[in-house]
Amino acid sequence: MSKTYADLRSARWFTPDDFRGSGHRSRAMQMGYAPEDWEGRPVIAILNTWSDAQPCHAHFKDRAEWVKRGILQEGGFPMELPALSLSESFVKPTTMIYRNMLAMETEELLRSHPVDGAVLMGGCDKTTPALIMGALSMGLPFIYVPAGPMLRGNYAGKIFGSGTDGLKYWDERRAGTITKEQWTGIEGGIARSYGHCMTMGTASTMTAIAEGLGVTLPGASSIPAADANHQRMAAASGRRAVEMVWEDLTPEKIVTKAAVENALTVAMATGCSTNALIHLIAMSRRAGAPIGLEDFDRASRVTPVIANIRPSGKEYLMEDFFYAGGLRGLMAQLGDKLDRSALTVTGKPLGDGLEGAEVYNEDVIRSLSNPVYHEGSLAVLKGNLAPDGAVIKPAACDPALHVHSGPALIANSYPELKAIVDDEDHPMSPDTVLVLRNAGPHGGPGMPEWGMLPMPKALLKRGMRDMVRLSDARMSGTAFGACILHAAPEAYVGGPLALLKDGDIVDLDIPNRSLNMRVDEEELARRRAEWKAPPPRYQRGYGYLFTKHIQQADKGCDFNFLLTEFGDPVDEPVI
Ligand code: FES
Ligand code: MG
Repeated sequence: MSKTYADLRSARWFTPDDFRGSGHRSRAMQMGYAPEDWEGRPVIAILNTWSDAQPCHAHFKDRAEWVKRGILQEGGFPMELPALSLSESFVKPTTMIYRNMLAMETEELLRSHPVDGAVLMGGCDKTTPALIMGALSMGLPFIYVPAGPMLRGNYAGKIFGSGTDGLKYWDERRAGTITKEQWTGIEGGIARSYGHCMTMGTASTMTAIAEGLGVTLPGASSIPAADANHQRMAAASGRRAVEMVWEDLTPEKIVTKAAVENALTVAMATGCSTNALIHLIAMSRRAGAPIGLEDFDRASRVTPVIANIRPSGKEYLMEDFFYAGGLRGLMAQLGDKLDRSALTVTGKPLGDGLEGAEVYNEDVIRSLSNPVYHEGSLAVLKGNLAPDGAVIKPAACDPALHVHSGPALIANSYPELKAIVDDEDHPMSPDTVLVLRNAGPHGGPGMPEWGMLPMPKALLKRGMRDMVRLSDARMSGTAFGACILHAAPEAYVGGPLALLKDGDIVDLDIPNRSLNMRVDEEELARRRAEWKAPPPRYQRGYGYLFTKHIQQADKGCDFNFLLTEFGDPVDEPVI
């Protein structure tokens, strides 16, 4: 133990024999606490992203009680602090706009309250990076409690996965082969328990990354939300948070370069969502161990996808992954691709947490020699269309399109795109490269998940099922197709995508990682001089702040002023 009670932040609120100290004690007593509740005890904040609009965290009201139980058992004083919930299902226009708001809230909640350490409760897509980003910047000891995936979807004897299955059956509904009653049954069956999406979409990817970073207890991220192991994990996390305070186990000792590399390898082995690039880059920059797009490309080339989970895998879902051995099983398969000496929240190296890890179903968690894909869940492209990079999932597109040239057909907005794709008689050629621009961090705004541009009816009619699509948007972790995403800098701030014209030839070469337009420098300079910046999307409020400070996708879309090293460190509050 390296800290004594007198060293703790919370002691500065509770112990001084002065009028302000007395006020803090008196107001704690107003809630029914006695001096025995805080004297000599670390205060552990529980940042709970529960809300009535957050189905993925519906169990957090109860689960926080299990965290508290653990904190009390270990002699801590739990203090639950509700935080912005960021429900992927209900928050518009996109939760991505508010990820940084939750990150700010996390940092400031911890800074302004009498707390010594924290348990962060999240899981639905953006909540994981947001909570971790803020807690990294604040620097107090913290542990992450992932919400856990929901149960497998089930209706009429069929298994359903979040995301793609809904879309697939919606097409049937449009075709009239599914009745309204059956559809209501599907709606009730596809998401039938609390917990986050149970495919390897953004939520499961990000919680796996959290475990890879070492900020969860070993195995925590794969436990289904409805499994009693989840309560036990929540309580154990509470107990551990108290110990971490005494041990002064701050995040800079855990989220090191080695930990970030481990998280990157884990992400690749899961066949991660493209959103992982933005979030892991943002977290790594907060931790002072920055990685960039080129690190993803490098890791992708040497890390096979071994989690056979939808959408990259064929059949299985997160519940199957847990029964097959979970993330500990997967990490054990990765062998020396991971730095097992990296310290975790347990106070011990990552390798210790993998001892005894087994794989119980080698079809779900593959070996390195029998992977789902040998390499390349992601490729990073560069060229005169995206000097700061763009991203594609080669495994998710028709191999015939890996090297492709064709004329651009441009939509400047989503309604324009809709008009193009719904026009059955559009005279586009089959090699067309369909482009959506002004859908980036500024333009979207917030980089909405529009990047899986729908196949145009004019090409569907000719039997085509995939085509090269290009945008500065993101796409859902469960989407697929030859979609080039995250083109940076985005069109709305005058990135080269803004200079592309209908009919310009776009050259995509995935093996050589290039993305170019056949327009010479002189002509580009001419177009650049003619380009007029569109007005910012917001003129007041949080959106205004967002517009002023958001960085491009290759930098993780963080606000520039939230980078941990931006300006002088913030002083501890005057108490
Ligand atoms: Fe919450 Fe998918 S909607 S994780
Ligand atoms: Mg999603």
